[in-house]
Amino acid sequence: MTLQNTTRRWGTIAQTFHWLIVVLLVVQVTLAELADDLPVGVRKLTLLARHKSVGITILALVILRLAWRAVNAHPPLPANLKPYERTLARLTHLALYVLLFAMPLTGWTMSSARGFPVSWFGFFTLPDLVPKSRPLYDALVLTHQTLAWFLFAVVALHVAGALKHHFVHKDDVLRRMLPFT
Ligand code: HEM
Ligand code: HEM
Repeated sequence: MTLQNTTRRWGTIAQTFHWLIVVLLVVQVTLAELADDLPVGVRKLTLLARHKSVGITILALVILRLAWRAVNAHPPLPANLKPYERTLARLTHLALYVLLFAMPLTGWTMSSARGFPVSWFGFFTLPDLVPKSRPLYDALVLTHQTLAWFLFAVVALHVAGALKHHFVHKDDVLRRMLPFT
């Protein structure tokens, strides 16, 4: 195992970014769904505050991940893929990155529009991105929810692709993203 990527596999740092973000996304969606079921009150606001902090953490990790990707080699897709599979893989990865930015940014903007500043686990408060506005808040809540559905769909496609590589093509695309392989 190496820290850096090589042209044959993802290194420990890229793998850590990938799997840490996966775990945080599961936490993130769980917090949102738990909060969604509760009436307005301290418990709901606490869960949403955690959701906001974890969401900002994901945003920071995605920025670091892309910076790390930019200064590293990365393993190319297997040469035997059909052109449409290659295009689908690239579009899926692009859509995942776009959504990993869009989700936290709509959430952050939504909170600003509602007049609730975003605090990161109580350590510091982020600046408001927009002034308070009820119509903008309503539009952003809908956008945030819709993007979450897009994210679920693209992740499902991505996971199906990874499993197809492993079980149908029997190549090393999944293994090279897994630690200890
Ligand atoms: C990758 C990051 C994020 C994901 C995947 C995510 C996902 C979600 C999901 C699935 C919901 C529930 C939507 C529903 O009602 O069905 C939600 C709600 C919410 N999210 Fe996020 N979120 C993310 C980041 C953020 C951030 C960074 C903030 C704020 C700083 C935020 C603020 C909120 C708020 C306030 C709600 C409740 C909206 C309402 O119904 O009033 N989210 N989020
Ligand atoms: C749940 C949310 C997930 C997100 C947001 C996500 C995101 C991404 C992104 C953006 C890439 C592209 C890496 C790059 O080229 O910079 C990637 C690669 C990869 N992901 Fe995921 N992923 C998720 C879940 C999973 C799961 C559950 C699996 C396994 C079943 C998986 C397997 C892979 C593999 C094998 C690669 C490497 C593809 C290659 O080497 O070309 N991912 N992921």
